[in-house]
Parts: sequence; C-alpha cells; structure tokens
Amino acid sequence: MEHIYPIFDKMLTRSDKENLLGQHGLMIWFTGLSGSGKSTIAIALERELQKRHLLCRILDGDNIRSGINNNLGFSAEDRTENIRRIAEVGKLFVDTGIITIAAFISPNNDLREMAADIIGKDDFVEIYISTPIEECERRDVKGLYAKARKGEIKNFTGVSAPFEAPLHPALSLDTSKLSIEESVGRLLELILPKVTKI
Ligand code: PPS
Repeated sequence: MEHIYPIFDKMLTRSDKENLLGQHGLMIWFTGLSGSGKSTIAIALERELQKRHLLCRILDGDNIRSGINNNLGFSAEDRTENIRRIAEVGKLFVDTGIITIAAFISPNNDLREMAADIIGKDDFVEIYISTPIEECERRDVKGLYAKARKGEIKNFTGVSAPFEAPLHPALSLDTSKLSIEESVGRLLELILPKVTKI
C-alpha cells in the first residue's frame, strides 16, 4: 500500500546526518606495530577533536577484539576477518558522519587496501605509526615481545609474523622522535580541513 506521506519512506542520507553534526565523516586508519603508540595517539586526537566540537569514535582492540571479534585470533585468516569486520563497522560510523579512528596493527598492504575498498577510498586516510620495532620492544608495555621472543606467543607481528610498512601513507608518525602533542598537531593539520563543514 502506498504511504500517505511518501516522504516518511525516505531514509535520511549521510549528508542529512553530516548537516546535523556540522562535520564530515572520515576514517582515520592507524597502522603500526604493537606498542607503536596507535591507541595513545588515537585517544589524544579524539580529545582534540572533541574540544573543537567534532564527534569522534575510536575503534581499537579494547572495544573490537574483546567484543564483536572475540572469536578471532592472529592467524592470517583471522586477521583478515578482523580487519574486514572493523572496516564494515567503521563504514557505518563514517556514513553517520562520525570521524572514526581505527587503531589496529593491520599488518599487510592487502588488508589495508581491503579496508579502504570497503569504506571507500575518498573516506579513508592511512596513517603509519612508524615507531621502530626496537623502541616498541623496549617499551614492551604488555610484556608480549618478551613472550614472543621466548616462543610463548606464535605469529607475533614483527617477531614471528610479518609487518609491511604502508607504501603511500598520508602521514608517518614515529613516536620515538615526536611527542604526542607533535603527532596530534600534524594529524590535526591533515584532518581538520577534511572534516570541517564550511
Ligand atoms: S591485527 O593484526 O590488525 O589483526 O591485530 P590487532 O587487532 O590490532 O590486535 C593487536 C593486539 O593484540 C595483541 N596481540 C598480538 N599482536 C600481534 N600478534 C600477535 N600474535 C598477538 N597476540 C596478541 C597485542 O597486544 C596487540 O595490541 P596493540 O594494541 O597493537 O599493542
């Protein structure tokens, strides 16, 4: 039966939502080794965006691997499925006009390309947290590198599983050389023009 008010059948668009929020949706995709500083920079960036009244959502291991992806491990197949689901979930946020930061190792170019294809290349900004493995291992925040070196963790990225540096990241940030504030400053320069509505 035809609706009396046909306009009610029409779903609101992304642009309706972006107008409501006064911002553009965007996926900021962090890649880098465990302990490179992805989550730390993501949290600091989110705070700076919030100060500017920009709505942001962080996706990281704490809210994804412990929930929707809690059946996945670190085999190549599971990492692919991990990233595929993250990209699909991320796309929903971006399509709602939300600035979304994904902070995952995402160790291969193929994986990141898959994520960019799912989200849409125009909405995808790749950021390489390029802190060298020596520094990540020195920090060893969770004690995982030590375990991986002893063979207690299999397929550990950078130790017993590969990490491919991105070929053309929009930005590289080495947290052994830059302070958090400097890293966030560079990110804001890149991102604010893309997310600000004029
Ligand atoms: S991936 O490769 O993108 O699917 O990995 P990700 O979802 O980002 O999860 C990485 C975090 O899981 C912990 N962990 C491991 N990392 C790499 N290799 C192995 N085998 C592994 N096992 C557990 C590790 O703490 C990573 O945390 P971060 O936050 O990156 O330091």
